[in-house]
This record gives sequence, structure tokens and C-alpha cells, in this order.
Amino acid sequence: MVIKMNVIETISKRHSYRGTYKPDKVPREDLKKIMQAGLDAPSGCNKQTTSLICVDDSDTLKEIHAVINPPIAESAPAMICVLTKRINAYRDKCFAIQDYSAAIENMLLAIVELGYQSCWFEGHITDDDRICDKIAKILNVPEEYDLVCVLPVGIAENEPLLPRKKEFSERAWFNSFMSKE
Ligand SMILES: Cc1cc2nc3c(=O)[nH]c(=O)nc-3n(C[C@H](O)[C@H](O)[C@H](O)COP(=O)(O)O)c2cc1C
Repeated sequence: MVIKMNVIETISKRHSYRGTYKPDKVPREDLKKIMQAGLDAPSGCNKQTTSLICVDDSDTLKEIHAVINPPIAESAPAMICVLTKRINAYRDKCFAIQDYSAAIENMLLAIVELGYQSCWFEGHITDDDRICDKIAKILNVPEEYDLVCVLPVGIAENEPLLPRKKEFSERAWFNSFMSKE
């Protein structure tokens, strides 16, 4: 039996959303599906170095937003915080960054698939002012974990803006670099 999957369509529809969100709560059932999609991602030597905390409690969200300056996604009713633990896959090889990146992309796709919007906020919170550490403190994250990214989740008020992306032929080829095939 052939199962038709719409993952390719979801991939092409996903874009970073930085606008405001409707106040509707995201059901826990949907949040769990999104988080499970993250946990289902591949990880180097199956070390499963990524952990997640979803914040949907409005008081905790307020505490978090109080340490994010300039503000981001303040109206989002939920925020998934991505944690990573630097466990070596083998010898001195640690794939924690690749592991959490795969988990984040899976979650972004699940978010869009379920009718919500989000944005991969990593640069903003891991800069020199280490907003990530302040959020980690609020969430009682143990020292051996780094909080590396937050993903707001909610129903968007608007459409995401479409960034300009390079043409296929500028970045991808068949058989040799820059081939014209
Ligand atoms: C590692 C990484 C860090 C990012 N950090 C931020 C961020 O801090 N703030 C932000 O607005 N977007 C952030 N983004 C989103 C990118 O800006 C966005 O993916 C890119 O502009 C392409 O747009 P698209 O997601 O709509 O395809 C980040 C994306 C990645 C992969």
C-alpha cells in the first residue's frame, strides 16, 4: 500500500514567522505531537542529546519574556525550549549541534503541519548577553544542559514574510560542482 505523505509540501510552506499570535491556547495534545516529532529526529550514534521543555503556563511565559530583550514572539501562547547535552557519540566526536538541529527542523515542520507558526530563535538568545542562560535559570535547567533555542508556537495573526532564497542552480548540482546538467 502506498501512503501519500505531504512532508514535501509542508517543507516548502514553512517559513520563519516573526509576527503576532492569536491568544488561542495550543492544546497539550498538539504540543506533545510537536515535541514527539523533535524527539523522533535522528541523532549521532542514537545518543539522543536533545531534551525539550514546553512552556505554556502564562506566568512562566511572562517571566521568560521579561529576560528577552529586544522582545520576540511575546503573544505566542506556548514556547518550546530546546536543551542540549554535550555527550560524545564516539571518541571525542560530539554531534549535539546536529542532533538538536534535526530535532528543531522536525518540530518546525510539525508546527506548520498542525496549522501553527514559529521561528527558530537561536542567534537572538545565545549572543553575548546570554539570554539563554537566564531562561534556563527560570526553568531550573541543570548545569550540564545548554538551552540553545526557543520555538514559539501559536496561531499566527498574519502570514510569514517570504525571504529571498537563491535559485536551485546556484546551490545544487548533479554529478559535479556547478555543473549545468
Ligand atoms: C541556527 C539558526 C539560528 C537562527 N536564529 C534566529 C534568530 O535568533 N532570530 C530570528 O529572527 N531568526 C533566526 N533564525 C531564522 C533564520 O533567520 C531563517 O531561517 C532564515 O532567514 C530563512 O528564512 P525562512 O526560515 O523563512 O526560510 C535562525 C535560523 C537558524 C537555522
